Amino acid sequence: MADFTPRDHPLQDRHIVLGVTGSISCYKAADLASKLRQAGAAVEVVMTPAAARFIAPLTFKSLTGRDVVVDMFEAAETEAHVEVARRADAMVIAPATADCLASLAHGLAGDMVALTALATAAPILVAPAMDSQMWEHPATQENVATLRDRGVEVVGPMIGRLASGRSGPGRLAEVPEILGALCQLLGQRTGDLRGRHIVVSAGPTYEPIDPVRFVGNRSTGKMGFAIAEAARDRGAFVTLVAGPVALETPWGVHRVDVQTVAEMLVALEQATADADAVIMSAAPADFRPVSPADHKIKKAPGQETLAIELTQNPDIIASLPGGGVRVGFAAETRNLADYARQKLPAKRLHFIVANDVSAPGSGFGTETNEVVIFHDDGRVEEFPLLSKYAVAHLILDRVLERLQPSA
Ligand code: PMT
Repeated sequence: MADFTPRDHPLQDRHIVLGVTGSISCYKAADLASKLRQAGAAVEVVMTPAAARFIAPLTFKSLTGRDVVVDMFEAAETEAHVEVARRADAMVIAPATADCLASLAHGLAGDMVALTALATAAPILVAPAMDSQMWEHPATQENVATLRDRGVEVVGPMIGRLASGRSGPGRLAEVPEILGALCQLLGQRTGDLRGRHIVVSAGPTYEPIDPVRFVGNRSTGKMGFAIAEAARDRGAFVTLVAGPVALETPWGVHRVDVQTVAEMLVALEQATADADAVIMSAAPADFRPVSPADHKIKKAPGQETLAIELTQNPDIIASLPGGGVRVGFAAETRNLADYARQKLPAKRLHFIVANDVSAPGSGFGTETNEVVIFHDDGRVEEFPLLSKYAVAHLILDRVLERLQPSA
């Protein structure tokens, strides 16, 4: 078994300062604090007096296990804003009101949230929430532009129903989006793949038989989406070429949707033109119907069988000219090692990730995978059953070893 430490969440052991300002959406900040803790982060909350009127500081104290500072003069630490700011790996302000954005843009320090933001050298993520007219006001838009110019990341606001009863932009981003934006922000500042372009393929392809039927397979895209997310968490710019799957796009990942092998090939040719690595975890169909019918095929009276002639699809990874570090997968139900070793040179891969798709917990649709990695220099590494996210990091560790130094 290979020697390794599994990585399960990018926020593990990070110190996150959560600033909460006064908005009806403050209740969602409690869920955010809880999810940050569940991800293994240390969470320290600072609030404005207005936020403390919407939600009790005790709620955050109970969720985070730490004192919450609303009034710096009553904090246990002297110079609390400096101490909290110094401990932060990142500061997230959610919800961020129009008043908060204005304070940040103009360097004002009238409350504990603005004070801490001014005092920290850590990256800052703001999640605005307000009525749409306040969001669209030129003053707010200029403040947001100023903050973006200074490197502050902004997630949302989302379009939808607002507390005023109107609809428009102004809703606080949902917790998974804020967490995704935070992971991306941390990756872009400190990740070992920052500045790199990683291309990932995921999911099945659907090869039409007629307008309502297709040749496909059981791939759900979970493995490829986990690789895309892990690469984003390490700071890469990620292009995810996805077959037909029912998964949300990870925040910050550039997704290109395709249906067939022919479309996947074109999308990957374009995406890999400047890629540092391509990771083919998709399950493209090896064969497609020769002549898809224009209309739904009907049963003829007495008909017992139907023959559909199939023709071979192009091998996508074998046809791609470059792509940088080239990684393939081998999905097998028997002779895993032999088939994987044959595919390495045939597809011009640096390494191949083999999974027995008939083993419990492995392969299609599962949250976990058990893989063996075969390298082009003959090395073989075996791993136990891990989350697909942890497998993704093992793959990216090996991609990193083979990357050419950045120009
Ligand atoms: O999506 P999930 O439900 O999470 O399941 C994950 C998975 C089982 C699909 C994934 O772990 C996996 O094994 N992906 C590869 C599936 C596959 O097509 O394996 P293969 O042994 O048939 O192909 C070998 C390699 O050639 C693969 O990298 C494949 O992407 C590539 N290929 C295959 C056919 C083709 N026409 N063009 C290709 O590039």
